[in-house]
Amino acid sequence: MNKLDSGLLFSALTSRGFVHTDKAAEADIIIINTCSVRKHAEDKVLSHLGRLKHLKKTHPRLLVAVIGCMAQRMGEDLLKHDTVDIVAGPGQLAEVPSLIDQVLERRENHIAITDHIRRPDSDEHQRTLDEFEMNYDSDENHLKSQAFIRAMRGCNNFCTYCIVPYVRGPEISRPPEMILEQARRLADAGIQQITLLGQNINAYRYEQGDRIWTLADLLEKVSDIGGVHWVRFITSHPGKFDDSILQVMADLPKVCPYLHIPAQHGSDRILAAMNRGYTSAYYLALMDKARATVPDIALAGDFITGFPGETEDDHRATAELIRKVRYKNCFIFKYSPRPGTRADEKLEDDISDEIKQRRNVELLDLANGIAEEDNKRFLGRTLEVLVEGPSKKPHLNAAENPENPQLIGRTAHDYIVVFNGPNSLAGTFTNVTITQTAPLTLFGNWSPSNL
Ligand code: 5AD
Ligand code: SF4
Repeated sequence: MNKLDSGLLFSALTSRGFVHTDKAAEADIIIINTCSVRKHAEDKVLSHLGRLKHLKKTHPRLLVAVIGCMAQRMGEDLLKHDTVDIVAGPGQLAEVPSLIDQVLERRENHIAITDHIRRPDSDEHQRTLDEFEMNYDSDENHLKSQAFIRAMRGCNNFCTYCIVPYVRGPEISRPPEMILEQARRLADAGIQQITLLGQNINAYRYEQGDRIWTLADLLEKVSDIGGVHWVRFITSHPGKFDDSILQVMADLPKVCPYLHIPAQHGSDRILAAMNRGYTSAYYLALMDKARATVPDIALAGDFITGFPGETEDDHRATAELIRKVRYKNCFIFKYSPRPGTRADEKLEDDISDEIKQRRNVELLDLANGIAEEDNKRFLGRTLEVLVEGPSKKPHLNAAENPENPQLIGRTAHDYIVVFNGPNSLAGTFTNVTITQTAPLTLFGNWSPSNL
């Protein structure tokens, strides 16, 4: 979501004549798009603001904007920070360019956040956001040939640990004709992979007369668009996960067989305390159904360790679930109390950081071990990848020849593939023969005859 929001704002500002610089010292405007999901993410922003204070001393005309979830959550408290000129929440993204103009003209600080975040958004405000989205969705700063399209805003699930419903507001599905028009336009402009976004995307529902649009309908219509080669969607909640989604994945070759579907925990007691609305048996049955319907489906999950009251037995239940599901990859987080959430208000953060950390590492080792075993099956196989571009951290297989630097690509199942090839492959589909595997990465050989 934040990548999409940053991309939209990037396009809006470049269309107004701003140019991008990688060097903070050269910038006239620095915009920090923030995340509030864990305290650590917010702490990083605060320390970054501390560093910018020095830069502002030598560059007094520098304008600093803090946008996104942390802006919505902290509001005035952020504006009080010496360095900050603009504070704008996720619902005010479309206003940021005019706020910048105002600050540049008058040098006064501005704040724009939603006053009553859980109140349904007015039609007019939604239209403003939708128009912004339509006008600026071709983000040149993003990966070549790939684009995100927001299918939904907000979330109504209120998992007890989670800040998202309080900073991104109520769940709203965007009109299907808007999403499809964006998809067609992006495809005409050369986009080959579209990722539909929503915090709880399987809940997508749009009523139009007597027709109800679902995520499966959207996936089908997007994959009908000529020029679109792959369609993905993130993120799914296991509750109310309709079979039709698995069916389109099985039936339509363009719908990527990758499902990011966080379980968050393996213990029913903790799942209930998290207000997730399902049991581990329900989740496991859903994963069995996913594998039965889409036999080679790649599953990815999120887990939280050290939720209040988590015992060693609860922790073992999560490990057991991970063992049963055999994820392609897992994201594992230490519980971080978020102000205003029900878990923070009602439950004591009683698991020490040391225990959270130990449990986190245990689950990560377990998940990586499984992925390492499962990835061996790719050795010697040739996989189709969509090339993203140069690898940011050249590791194994380092380039021997500057014309073939180390590139990174992803398969339809979302496996990361690292190989040497020409930069001109960025944004294209190619084939790579896998020669080496690791838990999170496949390494392979590319040759011009693989095209
Ligand atoms: N503490 C730790 N992890 C969290 N997540 C969400 N809220 C918290 C929190 N308070 C994790 C969940 C979610 C992912 C995006 O972040 O696993 O799926
Ligand atoms: Fe947060 Fe739960 Fe909504 Fe995901 S589904 S954004 S974890 S409240």
